[in-house]
Amino acid sequence: MIITLDGPCGSGKSTLAQMLAQKLGFFYINSGYLYRSLAYLLVHELGYDSLKLQNIAIEDITYLLHPDHFVYTYQQGIAQVFFKGLDITQYLKTAEVSSHASIISAYPYVRASIVPLQQHFATLYDLVTDGRDCGTEIYPQAGYKFYITATAHVRAQRLLQDLERKGAQASFQDVLDATLARDQRDMQRASCPLRKADDAIEIDTSAKTIDQVLEEMAHIISLQVV
Ligand code: DC
Repeated sequence: MIITLDGPCGSGKSTLAQMLAQKLGFFYINSGYLYRSLAYLLVHELGYDSLKLQNIAIEDITYLLHPDHFVYTYQQGIAQVFFKGLDITQYLKTAEVSSHASIISAYPYVRASIVPLQQHFATLYDLVTDGRDCGTEIYPQAGYKFYITATAHVRAQRLLQDLERKGAQASFQDVLDATLARDQRDMQRASCPLRKADDAIEIDTSAKTIDQVLEEMAHIISLQVV
């Protein structure tokens, strides 16, 4: 069984997907982590800058994502990414990595290198996954598809709180601008843009708590939520 949650940044999809996976005892793939990891490693392992990210060498992607170096795990409810044995998860949620991940994910050759990782997990596990194109492109056969949204204002507020919790400084306007820029890139790119699958159920989380949304999803999936 595959359950997909797609939606824009700050919609709450990753938190919901992770909690749902835990309740079901399913594997969880945070597909944003895969794009974020690649963006992070290109810059911090191979010295790419913003300009060079616009022209990524295929062999660099192959090197970074080689299974001997790159490992995504989901254990005891926690998703982690390791590169050469080092846990890089803590570096993936910065504003810089968010923006770089959004930029590189528009390139078809980047997507083509991530998709096999996503599909491989589906051959091994029942899974819950979140991203932009999980229900439309990666797992069109998914048993349940959700499209998680919230207003840009609410999403920027949540992302700002996230940054502040990590000790980062930012203004609401800066976070809102970055959110709108990511939305535009993620929705308007030619390759696998963010869009609601025809058979996805849309949930607007703007005025709902995580628990309310989780309950709504569990009801739809007809689970006994403990
Ligand atoms: O879900 P997220 O915000 O962590 O994702 C970071 C970026 O990665 C997002 O701006 C677009 C890209 N992404 C994607 O293109 N496809 C996915 N399935 C997941 C993420």
